[in-house]
Amino acid sequence: MSLLICLPNKFQPQLLSNALKSLDSELHIEIGKEHVKNNSSVEFAVDWKNHEGHLLNYPNLKAILSYSHGVDNLLSSTELPQGIPIARLKDETMAKLMSEYLLAVVLLHRRQLLNYAKNPEFSNWGTSKYHPGNQIGILGLGYLGQASAKMFLRMGFDVAGWSRRIKQIEGIKCFSETKSLLKMLSQTDYLINLLPNTSDTLDFLNYQILSMLKRGAYVINVGRGKTLVDEDLIELLDSGHLSGACLDVFRTEPLPFKHKFRNHNKILITPHNSSITQAEFAAPQILENYRRAISGKKLLHLVDMKHGY
Ligand code: GLV
Repeated sequence: MSLLICLPNKFQPQLLSNALKSLDSELHIEIGKEHVKNNSSVEFAVDWKNHEGHLLNYPNLKAILSYSHGVDNLLSSTELPQGIPIARLKDETMAKLMSEYLLAVVLLHRRQLLNYAKNPEFSNWGTSKYHPGNQIGILGLGYLGQASAKMFLRMGFDVAGWSRRIKQIEGIKCFSETKSLLKMLSQTDYLINLLPNTSDTLDFLNYQILSMLKRGAYVINVGRGKTLVDEDLIELLDSGHLSGACLDVFRTEPLPFKHKFRNHNKILITPHNSSITQAEFAAPQILENYRRAISGKKLLHLVDMKHGY
């Protein structure tokens, strides 16, 4: 019986296999659907996209593990085996990486540091230019959103968050539903999108919503590209309503060379790397879910199929 890892090379499947083997040397691991010797032996699959619908090929498959926080790539497959549970990762290391990235971006803007890269005398010697505003607004208070919210709180920011289901988190102003979203936006200096990619969030950050932000606000998208309407962001940056944006995710990735986001002087672009799954930290929970799956127990971090995350 085997555990199949089916991930593109950029996710370093061999590293994950090594990390799993170092926890349990008896594991029988296969890497890549094309190397599976006997389809009936596959009981557990680590995947992210269900390339060519291969997950339908394993009659004894008991569970699927999505090798990322966002499960949209996997769930968008029309050829998923029915009734097989899907779990996702909830990884403390990924939460730390995300928090670190967000803090770096907010401080870069707040202290205007990128301007000194272009001109070391951007402010007079011994003086500093500070982008005003202390209010962070986070869209999506899941695992990564909550970890980031708490980090900003510890750093002395005022933090608010909005989620589909209302949350209660000490020290953080929590909102839910559209009416209260508008209230949160009107007070937000740094808007961070961590919403999952679902039919409800498609084009959610459009002109109407973004223009509700406080004048001079800064937008950070680390959720998914399809949540943001590209042209609407550009319009609000060009009109001066928004002071800048940092984008890590895009509708098309890699971001096409001719896209307007490139070379826009108010946009900072990173190549979808704000928080990447780290094999050695993901391995223990993958092994735990593998063991649960083969002994018929409920998996950790099950995906809510109805809501798509
Ligand atoms: C990255 O985008 C992830 O979903 O983990």
